Amino acid sequence: MATRGTTNPNRLRRVDRWITGAPWAARALRSAADPLVVDLGFGSAPTTTVELAERLRPLRPDARVFGLEIDPERVEAGRRVAVPPGLNFRRGGFELAGLAAGIGGAAGPVLVRAFNVLRQYTEPEAWKAWEELRGRLAPGGLLVEGTCDEIGRRCCWVALDRGGPRTFTLACLPADLARPSDLAERLPKTLIHRNVPGEKVHSLLNDLDSCWARAAPLVPYGPRARWAESVRSLAARGWPVLDRPRRWRAGELTVAWSAVAPAGSPGS
Ligand SMILES: C[S@@+](CC[C@H](N)C(=O)[O-])C[C@H]1O[C@@H](n2cnc3c(N)ncnc32)[C@H](O)[C@@H]1O
Repeated sequence: MATRGTTNPNRLRRVDRWITGAPWAARALRSAADPLVVDLGFGSAPTTTVELAERLRPLRPDARVFGLEIDPERVEAGRRVAVPPGLNFRRGGFELAGLAAGIGGAAGPVLVRAFNVLRQYTEPEAWKAWEELRGRLAPGGLLVEGTCDEIGRRCCWVALDRGGPRTFTLACLPADLARPSDLAERLPKTLIHRNVPGEKVHSLLNDLDSCWARAAPLVPYGPRARWAESVRSLAARGWPVLDRPRRWRAGELTVAWSAVAPAGSPGS
């Protein structure tokens, strides 16, 4: 559904940093025979699509990036900017505008980034969109779907491959938080209604808050050090933390999807 299309320059820097820097995401891009990338629902201005194309270039100078929008005026606005080589804008939605795997023998995109798009849909619609979109990926491709605040300091996303959801990531400016569960307001649609007692995502955020409280002695070293220590102790409690201290210090945490999968959902 078309909305106001709120976006901002550099808003998606944290997810782009993850896409190009987290080993399994970067591997998908590096190993793709055809590095076809889709930015689904780029919004009222094409800025974040242009930024994605620029950030992918060091990894894959041959990447072809398509910004898709259901609002045709936004597609026109995209085409009017000085578009760098390899970047295109098309009208399209979850069907991926002719770029989906299997359409005309196409392999499909190796990456679909959909940010701040599904929050406008109902929870059942969001689950359905995940199912449809992951079925349209190239083998080995990733769908990265998530949400963030207006200036990209508080972000949450899920990475899915053709088989289903694989990872859940929190990314933030730790100095912006009173406690990690402040990020709950940015949970993807498939999780936001599950942040209630008895659901795993609620337990994860509670445990992370408790680790954050215990890491208070690190306050003099700054909020990033406190976040990194909180993640270290979360991992020590047995949560399936997948990333390394270098990413924790950047204000990230990635866990296996199984750690947050809602009761009765795929991968739970
Ligand atoms: C809030 S904006 C997000 C812009 C940008 N991705 C960002 O995060 O800053 C959401 C955009 O998604 C578009 N949108 C909503 N549903 C869509 C769909 N099924 N396919 C393509 N675009 C869609 C809306 O028209 C709107 O411009």
